[in-house]
Amino acid sequence: MPPSATTAAAVVVVEAPSEKEEEEEEEEEVVVAKKPTTSLPIPVNPLHPPPTPPPPTNHPPHPQLITLPAPPHPLPPSTATTLLTALRTSGFLYLSNHPIPPTLLARVFALSAQFFALPQRRKDALAWTTARANRGYVCLGREKVSQALTSAEVAREREGAGEDLKESFEVGREGGVGGANRWPEEEEGQGQEGGFDARGFRETMQEFFERGKELHRVVMRGVAMALGLEAGFFDGFVGAGDNTLRLLHYPPVPKRVFQEGRVRAGAHSDYGSVTLLFQDTRGGLQVEDPGGEEGWVDVGPREGCVVVNAGDLLARWSNGLVRSTKHRVVEPPLVGGRGGRGGAAGGDVVPARYSVAYFCNPDFDRWIEALPGTYGGERGGKRWEGINSGEYLEQRLSATY
Ligand code: NI
Repeated sequence: MPPSATTAAAVVVVEAPSEKEEEEEEEEEVVVAKKPTTSLPIPVNPLHPPPTPPPPTNHPPHPQLITLPAPPHPLPPSTATTLLTALRTSGFLYLSNHPIPPTLLARVFALSAQFFALPQRRKDALAWTTARANRGYVCLGREKVSQALTSAEVAREREGAGEDLKESFEVGREGGVGGANRWPEEEEGQGQEGGFDARGFRETMQEFFERGKELHRVVMRGVAMALGLEAGFFDGFVGAGDNTLRLLHYPPVPKRVFQEGRVRAGAHSDYGSVTLLFQDTRGGLQVEDPGGEEGWVDVGPREGCVVVNAGDLLARWSNGLVRSTKHRVVEPPLVGGRGGRGGAAGGDVVPARYSVAYFCNPDFDRWIEALPGTYGGERGGKRWEGINSGEYLEQRLSATY
């Protein structure tokens, strides 16, 4: 471990991370102020077989496993219904038999690890700039808190106790809103031999980006069918693919960092329509039980599966029907252990975790307002004003960074 991490951890108090609270406040300010609490009745949609009543009390938050049909077979209506029910109840699900080839995923993970292993200066040269661009490299939050020299700075560090123990790299749509992607370049004089394959990195991420776009369309077709809409209802909303591919690296950390109250990623909900999450075998992702009874529930890796969860904009679009569930990344559970945490047997260091999140959004030029069938009559009015997708995302991102 670099000494900076130890320094950062040493001054952290075990209280609830304050950034988490800030994050929640920000959410309320920006959008969630109008978000209904879970105790409000969820509108009923008459266009589809009677929707399963949502939790919170008797439906465990554990994500369901849903298997997609092999292409070119369309999604059966029953699968679509199960998918929407999962998004309404836990807000999370596992999708197997998805169309992203394992070989491509393996390449994405390998190149991601190589990217994060680059010298810091090469990563910093690609630094994330603005919420509008939302592209590039985001460094570890802990670097900010490792430089404390005065008591005022220590106090500020405590404020920052919830800073995420992660670094990331964001890729947007080529030619989309916010400008060009920030791709790493070949190091001069190094070539591919023994160096970082910058071209392979770019091409692989671009290929993955397109595959993710397609999977987004598949998921939204399921949502449309289950809502009693035309299967292709959302096609015109997701065709451009204004999505964000985020490579994530949670570096190895001393176990005691977690004992001191730190997390790898603080509790948050996602912003867009859905998120597709691919994780390595490490574990650590947890979702909040919307009913509150089970607290945080582990959503561990399952071979060949992508984790799908609904974001705030889909919740808003569906007039509150779909649930955008809070989640976080913490110390992984003990492998083969019972109830303990720690990720790997023995040792004082919790190994690294890598994941790949594909944040899907409605195209940025689309107007998002309550979907047909989710309001009116007994279902009540529209709970949110309509909003432009791109402006919404920019607002949310500005509040985070
Ligand atoms: Ni998330």
